[in-house]
Amino acid sequence: MVGTGENFPHLGESSAVGQPAAGVQPYYAQRAEVLGQRYGSVTFEEVHGGVLDLLPPAPAKVLDVGAGTGRDAVALAQRGYQVVAAEPVRELREVAQSLNPCDDVRWLEDSLPALSHLQGPFELVLLSAVWMHLASAERGQAMERLATLLAPAGLLVVSLRRGVPPTDRVMFDVPAEEVVQDGERAALRLVRLVGEGADRLGRAEVWWQTVVLRKGGE
Ligand SMILES: C[S@@+](CC[C@H](N)C(=O)[O-])C[C@H]1O[C@@H](n2cnc3c(N)ncnc32)[C@H](O)[C@@H]1O
Repeated sequence: MVGTGENFPHLGESSAVGQPAAGVQPYYAQRAEVLGQRYGSVTFEEVHGGVLDLLPPAPAKVLDVGAGTGRDAVALAQRGYQVVAAEPVRELREVAQSLNPCDDVRWLEDSLPALSHLQGPFELVLLSAVWMHLASAERGQAMERLATLLAPAGLLVVSLRRGVPPTDRVMFDVPAEEVVQDGERAALRLVRLVGEGADRLGRAEVWWQTVVLRKGGE
């Protein structure tokens, strides 16, 4: 694990005295506005171009987990989907609603691995640059939970930030192959693995993979 964020218990939301709630990272709470600008400097289509042809027809129910400042949730709503955006960091949800206001996105506070406030089924679940924040022990549990939230034949799209993790937030370098194996254990099968290579925000030390899994058989 790299950096726990426990140096900043006064930031973010608390589930118990001095303990940040699940998924809340001070890094994101402190930088929400700047990150909103940064994430919004690229489009949904640019970031997820390698999987657009796999998206279900609208209007399908879509869940964006770790939705951040709403770039993808809003783009999906504009494409006609019924979108739920789950985001544990209050500051990011607030920036999302001021930067990307959209009545067609339902925002809620929730976090992996439990996602306890959500009810499926969803035809598409998106985790864009989120999975690498989960510790090894959480990832299997998270995959099981995501599988239960998916509709039959529903798609799970997981983009992975690769490279040596930074030290200012909890992050792990998780290979796509591990996501595929966790998915198989939860009865999800691999549909596509995209090795996108370069970082769209221009960071030389960062590269990306996207794993697309489908629930159930053909
Ligand atoms: C790099 S940002 C990506 C935001 C957005 N998905 C995007 O692509 O622009 C990582 C996001 O994951 C969220 N996150 C971190 N840990 C999480 C957890 N355990 N459950 C859900 N979201 C989490 C953060 O709050 C943050 O919004």
